[in-house]
Amino acid sequence: MSLLLDEIALATARLAEAGVESPRADAELIAAQIHNVKRSGLHLVPDAEFDATFWVDISRRANREPLQHITGRAYFRYLELDVGPGVFVPRPETEVMTGWAIDRLHHMDVSSPVVVDLGTGSGAIALAIAQEVPRARVHAVEADPLARPWTERNIERLAAAAPYTKGRVTLHGGDFADCLHELDGQVDLVVSNPPYIPLGAGVPPEVGEYDPPAALWGGADGLDAIRVVERVARRLLRPGGLVAVEHGAPQGAAVYWVFPEEAGWRDTRNHKDLTRRDRFVTATWPGDRPDV
Ligand SMILES: C[S@@+](CC[C@H](N)C(=O)[O-])C[C@H]1O[C@@H](n2cnc3c(N)ncnc32)[C@H](O)[C@@H]1O
Repeated sequence: MSLLLDEIALATARLAEAGVESPRADAELIAAQIHNVKRSGLHLVPDAEFDATFWVDISRRANREPLQHITGRAYFRYLELDVGPGVFVPRPETEVMTGWAIDRLHHMDVSSPVVVDLGTGSGAIALAIAQEVPRARVHAVEADPLARPWTERNIERLAAAAPYTKGRVTLHGGDFADCLHELDGQVDLVVSNPPYIPLGAGVPPEVGEYDPPAALWGGADGLDAIRVVERVARRLLRPGGLVAVEHGAPQGAAVYWVFPEEAGWRDTRNHKDLTRRDRFVTATWPGDRPDV
């Protein structure tokens, strides 16, 4: 066995002992990042180039620092995003909701659809939409001043890699409860992955100690921010506009009732993620606004 493979095997055992969920993958991804190769190219790294910083990074991961903070990168659909302290690490679950939004935008008979991403964090959802729906204009709203520099970096990074997105993604600072009044009644799609963990729920150290609190906690039942998203979507959407909101796996039934027919919503649906767990709700705003 090569020295690097030996070290990866030892690191895997260390991470497993520390309770890391995917120890082998994390050890390999850390090694790949250090040697600037893809994970599948690790066998090409000469033993002479084994780098001792590997063990520094493995110790950080064993202390349950998120892999993405160590590598400084998160992958989301076709994007490579800069992430680190102060910003929520985008999750694969959210890729499914984003895919739903992208698919609906492709089928929308609108020349330049207007999209609003409430609580954009790293910009993952907003930027994936801008990348995959070049006609879209995306407004990304974020309240946390520590998160916004990351969003800005990622907007610039995508504009450099995909110049057609330049000027099509706008970051707005502030609370999404009171955002973008100038777009009232004109938005084609509102999408959000808001904080939705009920206060007091247990979370792994990677989440509780490293994701920003404003990205996590959604009040006693976890639905506080989702209720705000419902109100804001109702105000922003044009007749026939769509909303998609992510939630925790046990919240599917409760979130369905945040978008009831009595409030004017139509076609409210639950959707599952890749592990077949309830993950997001979508609804249509038909435009016959009742006084609620
Ligand atoms: C779960 S994170 C999602 C980030 C990103 N959209 C994603 O999917 O990776 C929720 C984000 O919403 C932001 N946020 C929470 N409440 C907000 C509010 N009232 N107004 C604006 N942003 C808010 C948080 O700061 C955080 O960045």
